[in-house]
Amino acid sequence: RTIAVVLAGGVGTRVGLGIPKQLIRIAGKAIVEHTLESLSRNQLIDEILVMMNAESLHELEYLRDGARFPKLRGILPGGKTRNDTTRLALDALPDDPSTKVLFHDAVRPFLDDRIIRDCVVALDSYEAVDTAIPSADTVIQVDDHIITDIPTRSRLRRGQTPQGFRLGTIRQAYELAAGDTDFAATDDCGVVFRYLPNVPIRVVEGSAENMKITEPLDLHIADKIFQLQSAALARPASADIPDLAGKTVVVLGGSY
Ligand code: CTP
Repeated sequence: RTIAVVLAGGVGTRVGLGIPKQLIRIAGKAIVEHTLESLSRNQLIDEILVMMNAESLHELEYLRDGARFPKLRGILPGGKTRNDTTRLALDALPDDPSTKVLFHDAVRPFLDDRIIRDCVVALDSYEAVDTAIPSADTVIQVDDHIITDIPTRSRLRRGQTPQGFRLGTIRQAYELAAGDTDFAATDDCGVVFRYLPNVPIRVVEGSAENMKITEPLDLHIADKIFQLQSAALARPASADIPDLAGKTVVVLGGSY
C-alpha cells in the first residue's frame, strides 16, 4: 500500500505574492491542484494526504470532491517548518510500518509517472529513496564569502521530491530527531541520513521539469512548461513530427 503526502504547509516567502505559492493559479488551476492531479491519476498511489498551510486550509475545501479525487483521505494543517509538517503527517498516517509513503512538495506540479514508479519500486528493496538530478552548476562551499570546498561536480546531485520511505523507518528517524536539541534539516531524507546512518538511501533520477516553484521567475517557467505540455497533447501523432523530448526547444527566439 502506498500513500502520498503533499507538503503544502509553507507560505512562499520567496515568491512573495502575499498568498501561499501553492495557491497561485497557473494554467487555470492552483499549483497544488495540479500536483494533486499528478499523484491522483497514478495507479501506484492508493491514498493521498494533503498537509496545508493552517491559515489557508479553507482555500482547499473545494478539493474535497470524492468524484474528482477519490484517493484523497484528508486535508490537514501543516506545521511551522517543513519537518514539522512531515511530523504532523506521520501522526496522521496508519500504523502499519511496512506502508510505503511518498512525501512530495506541493510546489512541484510536473511530477511524472516514471518518477513515481521508480520511487515506489525502489521501496521494494530499500527503506528510503530520494529523487535527484545532476547539477549543471559547479557547487561551491563558502564560509564568510570565502570558498572552503569545491566538491567534484559529477558526484553532486540536486535533491527533488518525492522522497519515499517505509513508514516504520521514517517514523523511527523522526523519533530519534525529536530527542535532539540540535535538530536541523531541510528535507526528510536528511532526517534518515542523520539519525539512521546505516540505512542506505536509494537515489532515483528526477527530471528538470520536476522543478520546485521557489522564486518569481519559476512561475513564468512553470507557465511555459504547461503551455508546452498542452501543445504536445494537442499535436497529432505523426512520424513527420520530430520528438523534441530531451532536446533543446527554441521558443520565440529564446532558448529554453
Ligand atoms: N512546506 C511545508 N510546511 C512548511 C514549510 C514548507 O509543507 N512549514 C512545503 C511547502 O509548502 C512546499 C515545500 O515544503 O511545497 C518546499 O518548501 P519551500 O519551497 O521552501 O516552500 P515555502 O516554505 O512555502 O517557501 P519560502 O521558503 O520561500 O517561504
